[in-house]
Amino acid sequence: MVTGLRVFAPAKINLTLNVTGQRDDGYHLLDSLVVFADVGDVVHLRAADAWSLQVDGPEAASVPAGDDNLVLRVARLFAPGAALTLTKELPVASGIGGGSADAAAVWRGLGVMTGQGRDGVDLLALGADIPVCVSSQAARMQGVGDVITPVGGLPDLHVVLANPRVAVSTPHIFRTLAHKDNAPMPAILPTFTDAADLCAWLATQRNDLQAAAESIAPQIALTRQAMAALPGCMLARMSGSGATCFGVFKSATAATQAAQRLAHAQPGWWVRAGRLGSMQDAARPQAL
Ligand code: C5P
Repeated sequence: MVTGLRVFAPAKINLTLNVTGQRDDGYHLLDSLVVFADVGDVVHLRAADAWSLQVDGPEAASVPAGDDNLVLRVARLFAPGAALTLTKELPVASGIGGGSADAAAVWRGLGVMTGQGRDGVDLLALGADIPVCVSSQAARMQGVGDVITPVGGLPDLHVVLANPRVAVSTPHIFRTLAHKDNAPMPAILPTFTDAADLCAWLATQRNDLQAAAESIAPQIALTRQAMAALPGCMLARMSGSGATCFGVFKSATAATQAAQRLAHAQPGWWVRAGRLGSMQDAARPQAL
């Protein structure tokens, strides 16, 4: 039996996000191309008789450590217990999955550690992004986050992620939307030969939450514009309901230099360079 595991929880990025309708229960229908970053949180799990959670890392201060923490709520679906340590690198409530990525990492880790399957558990009810974060594989996400189709062959993108440290409320942004019945993405996505090709297609797509989020939090537009003005930036867009924005660059070097420049100009912002794509290998639980 495995007694200790390290699980990487990659950030989730919505390269596109179309809001295509609203259900009677208020939840919105989405159509989104989701990828994952080599930037993320880390969860350590050790077998124990009871549940415990410690949070450390640069973003620890903003994580609610109480019993209703999403990580513990997912953990309690398993038996008997585990000591969890969450090393928090991603800003909370920032449109890049944070809590959902952590919950999905605990789900993967405890599945391996306990050997228990948890078929039939409604992960979606715990967080709309948890199902797509479980595999951390590039995917098209539809429905309310429940219809997930893996997308193979997507070229990796070199990016800068930037968050101006303004908290945004996802329900507030959905309520502020002027149009809730926008067109979906094409039924069949194109095939992409390389990152420039993917980026050119992404430029024809959109995030339907961006305008509403920027009207509520103008710092998001400033972030996106600052990103777009960096040398070599091919595309700048908000992820999820914000406030984190991503900028696509042609190489890892260009992204690293751009991130240094942005971090220097905006010392209060969270800024990281990284790679986007499928992260299912990196996200696999590793025995300690
Ligand atoms: O599940 P999660 O915490 O990510 O969702 C936050 C809120 O965003 C939900 O309570 C709901 O108000 C809104 N939402 C929505 N439609 C979705 C996903 C989330 O309206 N598909």
